[in-house]
Amino acid sequence: MNQFTRRSFLKTSALAAGAALSARSWGQVSGANGDIRVAVVGLNSRGQNHLTSLQAIPGVRVVALCDVDSAVLAKTAQALGGSVKTYRDIRELLAAPGIDAVTVATPNHWHALMGIWACQAGKDVYVEKPVSHNLWEGRQLVAAATNYHRVVQAGTQIRSGAGLQEAVAWVRSGALGKITTARGFCYKRRASIGLTSGPQPVPATIDYDLWSGPAPLVPPRRNGAAHGPVHYDWHWFWPYGNGDVGNQGIHQLDVARWFLGESGLPRHTLSVGGRLGYVDDGETPNSQIIVHDYATAPLVFEVRGLPAKTGAGNTMDQYRGLSIGNVIDCEHGYVVTGSYFAAQAYDRDGRLLREFKGEDRHMANFIDVVRSRRTGDLYGPIGEGHVSSALAHLGNISHRLGRVAPPAGIREKLAAEPALTEAWSRMAGHFAANEVDLEKTPAALGQLLAVDPVAEKLTGPVAPGANALLTRDYRAPFVVPQLA
Ligand SMILES: NC(=O)c1ccc[n+]([C@@H]2O[C@H](COP(=O)([O-])OP(=O)(O)OC[C@H]3O[C@@H](n4cnc5c(N)ncnc54)[C@H](O)[C@@H]3O)[C@@H](O)[C@H]2O)c1
Repeated sequence: MNQFTRRSFLKTSALAAGAALSARSWGQVSGANGDIRVAVVGLNSRGQNHLTSLQAIPGVRVVALCDVDSAVLAKTAQALGGSVKTYRDIRELLAAPGIDAVTVATPNHWHALMGIWACQAGKDVYVEKPVSHNLWEGRQLVAAATNYHRVVQAGTQIRSGAGLQEAVAWVRSGALGKITTARGFCYKRRASIGLTSGPQPVPATIDYDLWSGPAPLVPPRRNGAAHGPVHYDWHWFWPYGNGDVGNQGIHQLDVARWFLGESGLPRHTLSVGGRLGYVDDGETPNSQIIVHDYATAPLVFEVRGLPAKTGAGNTMDQYRGLSIGNVIDCEHGYVVTGSYFAAQAYDRDGRLLREFKGEDRHMANFIDVVRSRRTGDLYGPIGEGHVSSALAHLGNISHRLGRVAPPAGIREKLAAEPALTEAWSRMAGHFAANEVDLEKTPAALGQLLAVDPVAEKLTGPVAPGANALLTRDYRAPFVVPQLA
């Protein structure tokens, strides 16, 4: 941190927070001409969508950009015409004047800390999903939004579609009877990222200390053809990512829980799966079933990264016509959401009953609330984003505490859980179609987690170290403060 110590940051941010709060209480939310001045942090891929969305909203000005990769930063700044301020270190950006809101599209391990720092600095925040890298820090971010009176929108944009909002209200009104199972699917091709022989050099353009942030500072052990040693493939490594359930999957976990109307964590969670079908550097499962036990109905989630069968390229399996989406099974029919902003309802004989259509209004909704300060109007309030992100984390904790088991052993253990047994028998067929021999490369049967939804802790007999997986050891000075 050149000319800029952590102490001075904290002092500045606390002052900024105080100043912003008093300003907000007088209704002043923006620059002199009423524009909302936004900074975008993390620009390699998703951040570009943030820019496009922001630029389409009248009265919004992108005034600053931040990325630890100087090549990505320079390219984006140039594309914006060069008039925008650029930063490598978010702490310097947050200490600068003239910024009302920050959007965060960095890797997952940075989300909560950046969100909290931004709240402390008096900025409103749009933070990508999953909003946290672990369960505990997600709760701290929720507390930061409350404690510092900030607008914090989770990047779960499906919630902004009018069609899905209508579909959820319709199902919850009992139009199809009670929900029997809320299903989510992430059948998304994830090929091998290759196998390196050792630590890989970091490109000179990347400040790797800042990229690593709260995670241990260790050289990358990946170098996939598509993304190289640092960007994107971090999703498949526990110190930074949360696997596909915490990547694509969090969207459909969120939608499933939204339909259920369950506002907190489940009572139990169990995962079964593994990284099967190839040997590469990645750590997280590419194939996984997770069941969350809710009072309303079970939430069953499936991840498949292998294709429909050997040699099928990118052709994926389908479940009632969808590869990525949700199927909400009810007593008298079901709802299918095979695209982000549309849904169809069918009766039990498969006759179409109703269609729902909408579009992405998530960033516009964030800006609306930055202006109005009515946080109840947010489509993706941080509290909801936290709980849905936590569903991915719980599934992964169950997996990480599990043990590999032969197929017969898994079948036997799942016998008491009809929803899991059914999903696992389909998954076993999928492995067979991909010539994965589960006797030779077994899947992991996760530990059944008992959850205290109020304390957001694991209860009952848990494996040693289980509760430690609810958080992490933060690398100073990138430490998430306890706020809740
Ligand atoms: N809502 C959606 O539909 C959606 C879609 C895609 C990605 N995402 C989310 O967006 C996030 C980013 O994904 P991506 O595919 O763009 O990843 P990426 O790895 O391609 O890009 C991340 C960028 O963040 C930068 N970065 C890393 N640490 C930083 C730091 N400390 N300060 C500033 N910049 C930093 C990197 O240099 C890189 O340019 C992920 O959390 C992902 O889950 C959301």
